Amino acid sequence: MRSTASPPPRRRLVALGTAVVLTTTGLAVTATAGSAAAQRVPAAPSAATVLPYEDAGLPTSQRVADLLGRMTLDEKIGQMTQAERGGIDADPSQITTLGLGSVLSGGGSVPTPNTPTAWADMVDRYQRAAMASRLHIPLVYGVDSVHGHGNLLGATVFPHNIGLGATRDPALVQRVEHITAEETRASGPQWAFAPCVCVARDDRWGRTYESFGETPELVESMETAIDGLQGGAGQLKDNDRVLATAKHFAGDGLTTYGTGSNSGKSGDYPIDQGVDRVSRATFDRLALAPYVPAVKEHHVGSVMPSYSDVDWTDDGLGNPVNMHGNADLVTGWLKQQQGFDGFVISDYEGIHHIQPGVASYATQVVEGVNAGIDMFMEPYDFATFITTLKAEVADHSVSTARIDDAVSRILTQKFELGLFEHPYTDRTHLGEIGSSAHRAVARTAVQKSQVLLKNDRATLPIAPGRPIYVAGSNADSIGNQAGGWTLTWQGGSTNVIPGHTILDGLRAAHGKVTFSETAAAPVPRGAVGVVVVGETPYAEGFGDVGGPRWAYDPADHNQPRPEKTMRLSDADSAAVDRVCAAAVKCVVLVVSGRPLVIPPAQLARIDGLVASWLPGSEGEGVADVLLGRAPFTGKLPVSWPRTLAQEPINVGDPGYDPAFPYGWGLTTR
Ligand code: BGC
Ligand code: BGC
Repeated sequence: MRSTASPPPRRRLVALGTAVVLTTTGLAVTATAGSAAAQRVPAAPSAATVLPYEDAGLPTSQRVADLLGRMTLDEKIGQMTQAERGGIDADPSQITTLGLGSVLSGGGSVPTPNTPTAWADMVDRYQRAAMASRLHIPLVYGVDSVHGHGNLLGATVFPHNIGLGATRDPALVQRVEHITAEETRASGPQWAFAPCVCVARDDRWGRTYESFGETPELVESMETAIDGLQGGAGQLKDNDRVLATAKHFAGDGLTTYGTGSNSGKSGDYPIDQGVDRVSRATFDRLALAPYVPAVKEHHVGSVMPSYSDVDWTDDGLGNPVNMHGNADLVTGWLKQQQGFDGFVISDYEGIHHIQPGVASYATQVVEGVNAGIDMFMEPYDFATFITTLKAEVADHSVSTARIDDAVSRILTQKFELGLFEHPYTDRTHLGEIGSSAHRAVARTAVQKSQVLLKNDRATLPIAPGRPIYVAGSNADSIGNQAGGWTLTWQGGSTNVIPGHTILDGLRAAHGKVTFSETAAAPVPRGAVGVVVVGETPYAEGFGDVGGPRWAYDPADHNQPRPEKTMRLSDADSAAVDRVCAAAVKCVVLVVSGRPLVIPPAQLARIDGLVASWLPGSEGEGVADVLLGRAPFTGKLPVSWPRTLAQEPINVGDPGYDPAFPYGWGLTTR
């Protein structure tokens, strides 16, 4: 039913300190920031009338203006606040009383049991608390669906972005992300903190696998991911789409090794969360460039600033600015110059990285808001954030115009998501989560992501009927092949998700498979050896080469995980040597988030070498290309170094001499 009330005149006057807002009823409400007495509470909806903002027939901008005009300062600040589910689950009434705008699931923050229905029930339970607020403003729920809805047990787990970059297939990536969106939204969350449009320049970075590759051109070509998540114009409200997030703005992949954790001020990561020590021109080319099409062509709905700092070399080093407090880039470049009209969501406690140890929390809040952050991911500090921001508005450190701009941006996306009409989870597609149709697309993505680096003696594909001898730490480990951001933040070797390992895939397709992880069992006569080596799971700075070692998932029993070295483990290296000595031919598959250095003498003994990346739940896709059921077509998304000392190594470098260059990839039929 359409409202009969005439739309408000376009007279949303906002001035510093004082806002005069005209509501549709003509009632002028003067809200002087900080003076509670002057703050009259504008009209709330009554059951009988449909207010303009509730009228789905009106243009979004009109609905936003109407709703904004009815909101108190407290309600506005609430909309700018995002809590972790762990902070509100025991008492969701905080959502109502604080008027929270959003809740997130951080990595591994899942309901019990971890099922699609329990997710949907959980999100709906929080949503009921939001709908009980005075103006019934729905929550938007965010989650890291960075390779499928990886937190959800039973979701289709796709290759991490580095593998998708290897496919060079933007249309496939769009389908992958459409499925990711469907599985995410069907289980409640309407917002994905994806894709990372980072350009990973130094593979020692623990987040290399979240990158589509080392060139901005490749990353930009894969921004069809945004279309897959959000759909085209007007499709965001559909039950199979989610709001996307381009992250981490900007230069997360361009930090200098040794400057991690903001030069040691906020932790001990060697390169993650570090400082970009580059010229302004380099920063434009490698950090900012991917955001131009993300905003202008793909209309991404949200952007997340980076934990990193930027320190231009042009004016000399020594004046780094954290991206969360970078008004020139967040407001000036992104919003004003590029015309980004979505909203900016801070990273997890991101504002705490503004002058850590120097700035007070209040200063961090003020700098973050004034830099242009619209919503604040303050997982457990949300209540303090609210009181702090309120006091800073009262002090005129933050203008009400800035608050109104932030809230308008957030509300715009909520309207576009259709949340006001359909706040609760549409479970139509719940039964399709992890379906065989979805897994088939993942399997195709895995096939196309495999990069054949070396294929001497026409070793691949393996001829039918040849016995296959399989070894190595990653042949039969679904946890390792899924990597980080799977069930838990860091993932885990012992994490089990529905799907198939590479060994499963080989066994299902081939009659004669022997498996011996350490290669201790004898190699049958005439067998081709397949040694699947690689990394164990990690996320963020715990994956930095030389970084701290995670030990804190229950299954870790406080035992630190293996060091990150970009080299084969001793056990894998020994398995390679044994199998390559005993088998008629040997193939080595590297299951990892980045290239691993293989010494020249060992490489010479290997007939076939494949970069398998982190394929996810569908290991059969790897078996398909090994057995010639699908061709090898993948191309390297990053340069493959000869030595660790070559890092950072990227195409176009002077004296570029990698083991395998960017774009390399042999093909089979
Ligand atoms: C990561 C983000 C992620 C957020 C929420 C942060 O630590 O940097 O990429 O979206 O956590 O889990
Ligand atoms: C959360 C992640 C988050 C990280 C930030 C973890 O505890 O689970 O989602 O990205 O903290 O440091």
